Amino acid sequence: MNGRTEYRFDRDKLTTPCYLVDVGLLRHNLEILDGVKARTGCRILLALKCFSMFRVFPLIALTLDGVCASSPHEARLGFEEFGREVHTFGAAYSEADMAELCRTSDHILFNSMGQLDRFRPMIKEYETRSGKAIKIGIRINPEHSEGAVEMYDPCAPGSRLGIRRDDLREDLLDGVTGLHWHNLCEQDADCLDRTVEAVERRFGDLIGRMDYVNFGGGHHITRSDYDLERLVRIVNTFKEKWGVQVYLEPGEAVALNCGYLVSTVLDIARADMATAIIDSSVPAHMPDVLEMPYRPHIIGAGQDQEKPHSYRIGGLSCLAGDVAGIYSFDQPLAVGDKLVFSDMAIYTMVKNNTFNGVGLPAIYLYEPGDDSYECVQSFGYEDFKKRLS
Ligand SMILES: Cc1ncc(COP(=O)(O)O)c(C=O)c1O
Repeated sequence: MNGRTEYRFDRDKLTTPCYLVDVGLLRHNLEILDGVKARTGCRILLALKCFSMFRVFPLIALTLDGVCASSPHEARLGFEEFGREVHTFGAAYSEADMAELCRTSDHILFNSMGQLDRFRPMIKEYETRSGKAIKIGIRINPEHSEGAVEMYDPCAPGSRLGIRRDDLREDLLDGVTGLHWHNLCEQDADCLDRTVEAVERRFGDLIGRMDYVNFGGGHHITRSDYDLERLVRIVNTFKEKWGVQVYLEPGEAVALNCGYLVSTVLDIARADMATAIIDSSVPAHMPDVLEMPYRPHIIGAGQDQEKPHSYRIGGLSCLAGDVAGIYSFDQPLAVGDKLVFSDMAIYTMVKNNTFNGVGLPAIYLYEPGDDSYECVQSFGYEDFKKRLS
């Protein structure tokens, strides 16, 4: 089952549609990550592509060592708002990107030998001029898949992500102090174990020459059944064997199950079956539901027919497939009812859009300690218009 079965805020205190992040749940995840750090000495970065709610960066920065960015914009956000290490990896950079990344990043990772060779002098020159040290790393492709669907598998055949061993030029590794890979997606430590073996097999001669190795993201560390002991064992064994620092850069694990999307039922229509139209949109506000795809969980609802009253739940846009699914409820739904979708902090605010002119959900923080609500961001017509011309 994806997500929580309950929530502890008062949905009637919220203006919908909105995302709400429960800070207490975020603290709980951070405690688990802190435990991994304490037991391994590894460093953990927040993957901004997944969760970039900068209002809570000061809290996250008490535990995590920095951020991993995928672009100059994310790197700048991390540099300005997080205030710790900024590691940047992009599939390719332009010269303008590199000039900006030298300013905002501490680690710059390359996806090809060609880009490494092209931009190394620019980084060295920036270091000399500014006195700032920038570490250079490369992303490798372990060529080891762990069964993620192809769309989310950077080791699938034809992947453009990471340098394969056959393409790696040892004569160009001057100044490279870090290796990075990413091949997991919502997976457990057994997948990491097999990946580490594959990396050691292909790249073992290089690991000992590095200062650090970054195991990427996709580790579902804060899921209740995740094998934490195995993760700790893998990281400690690796560090001891190779004498290098280990980084992890999870996104999901940081804010897993910490957030919700709350929507109001605007209409109950008859369309082959009872259909509730909510003031939200699946492709605009929870795009991963269609992209992954998966069925989001609505708290208190069951599968079709599991409870007495079944409804198709659909969104505001013109897309025929703007549908979350068919859900059943104990009581009939009525106009004005609020539905709470769980696990909506991750890959939502960072990916949403205004297709059809649908408004963006406001963003709330809920502090369970004193039962307080803060609407930290709301959006309007200007946000929609600004992206158009
Ligand atoms: C390079 C890299 N690092 C980290 C992550 C974060 O992964 P997750 O949010 O699944 O932990 C991703 C996700 O795509 C990624 O591509």
